[in-house]
This record gives sequence, structure tokens and C-alpha cells, in this order.
Amino acid sequence: MKPLTLHVPVLLQEAVDYWAGNPQGYYVDLTTGAGGHSWSLLSLLPQARCLCVDWNERSLALAQERLKFFHDRTRFVRANFRNLDHVLTRAAWPSVDGILCDLGPSTFQVLDSGLGLSYQNDEPLDMRLDSQNKGITAAELLAALSEGDLEQLLMANGEISRSWSRRIAHTLCNAGGSIKTSGALVKFLRRASGNRKIWAQVFQALRIVVNDELGAIRQMLGFVPAVLKPGGRVVVISFHSLEDRIVKDVFHSWVESGQARFLSRSTVQACERELEQNPKARSARLRAIEKIDEPRNGE
Ligand SMILES: C[S@@+](CC[C@H](N)C(=O)[O-])C[C@H]1O[C@@H](n2cnc3c(N)ncnc32)[C@H](O)[C@@H]1O
Repeated sequence: MKPLTLHVPVLLQEAVDYWAGNPQGYYVDLTTGAGGHSWSLLSLLPQARCLCVDWNERSLALAQERLKFFHDRTRFVRANFRNLDHVLTRAAWPSVDGILCDLGPSTFQVLDSGLGLSYQNDEPLDMRLDSQNKGITAAELLAALSEGDLEQLLMANGEISRSWSRRIAHTLCNAGGSIKTSGALVKFLRRASGNRKIWAQVFQALRIVVNDELGAIRQMLGFVPAVLKPGGRVVVISFHSLEDRIVKDVFHSWVESGQARFLSRSTVQACERELEQNPKARSARLRAIEKIDEPRNGE
């Protein structure tokens, strides 16, 4: 097996500073990935415990290996974070001090998973990141959609303009269900546009839908008020505006109803120094809130 491409954690210092509110706390890393953020939290707080969650078995195995130094303070659970309530019930942790969500796939999943997530590799067009996902693959989705539905999907999940979405949907539907690999998808995309940014947006759109990524974020956030201790914190790092808009709206609604306060009023972004070392951090946006101890009277 070829060596994994390293995932460099984004906004590491900032995320852990917001996440780590209680030195003896119980924390959940809902997107453990290669374990970079969990590692930093557990190093910073020698008495904290962390429940490390990821829906991908390979990622979780990698994190378990990297975090073995902290074996007495970590637990590992393969799960979709949309089931946050069940995850905590199964762990017998009714409430927690901090939740971190660093969204999207990790670098090694994009480049080395064999799931067809990148236009740079020629692999089966699968895209199912959840190891237990028995739903349809990206290739099956492409073959099943009408031209109109594909146009809508590209606009809504790839943030591609209507005219480009129409053109791409027309080209891909002309393939008549023959697109089975990421290489074949690129071959057809090339006929519609030579712009690699648009190719990346098409891959993003298919990945989001195959994994119901936006639905998972909404469902997970719905459980947070019930499982977060007073004074507990939630930190979310998003990589595109579809994710960030959901987080922004939910956080604002909690603040407006007096349940929470912002730890950062606007989004936190990577500084120039981080961007020089990790250009992928350019699209990262961090939002953080803290649950208020005593909700305001009458709310
Ligand atoms: C950007 S990576 C996280 C990287 C990690 N913070 C680190 O420092 O290495 C996101 C991880 O979240 C996982 N993930 C994405 N959506 C998920 C979901 N709905 N449930 C559980 N895990 C998810 C992915 O498999 C991936 O490993």
C-alpha cells in the first residue's frame, strides 16, 4: 500500500483555544480524521478526555495509532456525526464540555482513498466516505439523474452558475450512464469546460449529495443544545459557504434566543503564516460559540 498523504490540521491553534474550555473536561472530536486537533487538545489539557469519532474506518484506525500515547483518555467510535445523540448515549457520556467539527474530507481521503474524490486520480467513482454507507455511489447517482435534476444538483451543491450547470449536465447526461470512474468524469467535463475550478466544484457537488453532508450537519447541530454542558463550547470549521451558512444560521439563532454567546463574532480565518505552509487552509472558516450558564429570564 502506498504511504498516506499527510493531512495538515487547519486553524489548529485557534480551534483548540476555543474548544478547550475546561481542563478536566469531556470532549468530542466529531471529525477525528488523522487526529491532529485531538492530539493538540489532549497535549494541552492533561486531564481532559476525548471521544474520537469518524465515519471512515481507515481514518479512525490511523487516528487510533497516532493517538495511542493518550490511550487512557481517548475512546474511538466509528459513526456518522449526524447521530451525535446515539454516539454519546453509547459512550455513557450524557453531556460534554466541547464539540469540534472540522468538516469535509481529509487530504488523504481526497488523494489516497481510492473513492474517486479527486479529478487528479482515475478511480471508481464511488465517493461514499462513510464505511457503512450502503447507498448509491456517485457513478450510480450520475446515471440515475435527469438532465434537469443534475443541473439543479450542480447549482445547489457545487455553487456553479446556472449556465455552466446546464452545459455540464447536458454533456454528462449525453454519456448515457457510461461514467464509472473519476477519469471518465474528467474526460466528459473537459468537453464542457477546461476550467479545473469547475471540475472541482462538480466533484464537490456529487460528494456532498452522495454523503448527504449538509443534512448531517443540520441533524448534528440539532442535538447540540441537549448534549452541551452550560459553559460548553462548539467549534466548527467549514470549507465552503454551503456548510458555513448552516452553521452561521444555527449559531445566530442560539445567540438570539439567549442560549449561547459567540466566542468570535465573525469567522476566524487562517493567517498569512499558515497559508504559506498550507494553502488548503485558504477556504477554512471557523465559528465558535459557548452555551450560556443561565439562559436569560423568560427565554
Ligand atoms: C477535515 S478531516 C478532519 C481532520 C482532523 N481534524 C485532523 O486534524 O486530522 C474531516 C474528517 O471528518 C470525517 N467526517 C466527515 N463527515 C463526517 C460525518 N458526517 N460523520 C463522521 N465523520 C465525518 C471525515 O471522514 C474526515 O476524516
